[in-house]
Amino acid sequence: MAQGDVYIGMNASDLRGTTVLVTGASRGFGRATAVAFHAAGADVVAVARTAEQLRQLQAELDGSLTIVAADVADPVVAGSLLEQYKPKTLVLNAGASPLARPIHHQTWETFSRNWEVDVKQAFHWIREALLLPLAPGSTVVAMSSGAAQFGSPLSGGYAGAKATIRFITGYAAEESERAGLGIRFVSLLPRLTPETDLGSPAVAAYAERSGLSVEQYLSQQPVLLKTEDVAAHVIDLASNAERPAGAYLIAPAGLKVL
Ligand SMILES: NC(=O)c1ccc[n+]([C@@H]2O[C@H](COP(=O)([O-])OP(=O)(O)OC[C@H]3O[C@@H](n4cnc5c(N)ncnc54)[C@H](OP(=O)(O)O)[C@@H]3O)[C@@H](O)[C@H]2O)c1
Repeated sequence: MAQGDVYIGMNASDLRGTTVLVTGASRGFGRATAVAFHAAGADVVAVARTAEQLRQLQAELDGSLTIVAADVADPVVAGSLLEQYKPKTLVLNAGASPLARPIHHQTWETFSRNWEVDVKQAFHWIREALLLPLAPGSTVVAMSSGAAQFGSPLSGGYAGAKATIRFITGYAAEESERAGLGIRFVSLLPRLTPETDLGSPAVAAYAERSGLSVEQYLSQQPVLLKTEDVAAHVIDLASNAERPAGAYLIAPAGLKVL
C-alpha cells in the first residue's frame, strides 16, 4: 500500500491476552477504544486524571480493567507506567480541549494548551517507548487530528500541536527502523465530530462562525465519526502488522495513508 491508498478491513484477531494501555480512557474516543480492546480480549490499562469516570468504566466492564488516575503530560507517569505494563499496544489518545476562539482572542496560555498536554504526552511517552524499548512487534498509535492537515482557526495552537504529534510519531518510526527495534509507530487523524466533550463545543463554534445551525453545519461534513468508528480504526491499526508505520487520515471510505 502507498500514499493515498485506502484501507477498509477490520481485524482484531491477535489482541487476545495482550496488554493495551490507552490514555484519555475516561471519555470520548479513548473510552470507546478501551471498551473495544476489552471486547477483543486484551488486558486494558485505562489512564486519565478523573478517577471517578475510570471507576465507572471499570464497573461497566465487570472490574476486568486496570485503571490509573494520572496526568499523561508528566514524564514520570510516562516512564513508570511503560516500565510497569510494557504494553504491546500503546494508544496515546488523551488530549486537552482547546478554547474555541479566533486567534486574536487567545492568550499565549490558551493558545499553547495542547502543546502543554498533547505534545508533551507524545514527546515523553514516545521517547520512553524507544528508550525502554517496547518489545519488537509493539504498536504505538498517537492521536493526531484532521486539523493537522486542514487547520483549525478557532482552536489556537491545536492544529499545530496535532501536526507536531504526527511529526514526532514519524521521527520515532524512523528511529525504530534505524535501530531495528520493531516498534511500529502510527498517527491517526480523525476529523472533527460533535460526539465528544472536545468536539461538541468546537462544532458549535464553527457552525456559529459560518452563520449555520449545528445541524446545517454537520450536514456539510463528508463523514460524521462515532467514537466507536475511531475505536475500530485504532483496533485495525493495532492488530494488522501489515499496516505500515505512518500517518492515517480517517476518510469516508476508510483509513487513508498520508
Ligand atoms: N473529538 C474530535 O472531534 C476529535 C477530532 C480529532 C482528534 N481528536 C483527538 O482525539 C483525542 C480524544 O479526544 P476526545 O474528543 O475523545 O476528547 P474528550 O472526550 O474530551 O476526552 C479527552 C480524554 O483525555 C483525557 N485527558 C485530558 N487531559 C489529560 C491529562 N493531562 N492527563 C490524562 N488524561 C487527560 C480526559 O480525561 P481527564 O479529563 O479525566 O483527564 C479524557 O479521557 C484527543 O487527542 C483529541 O485531540 C478529537
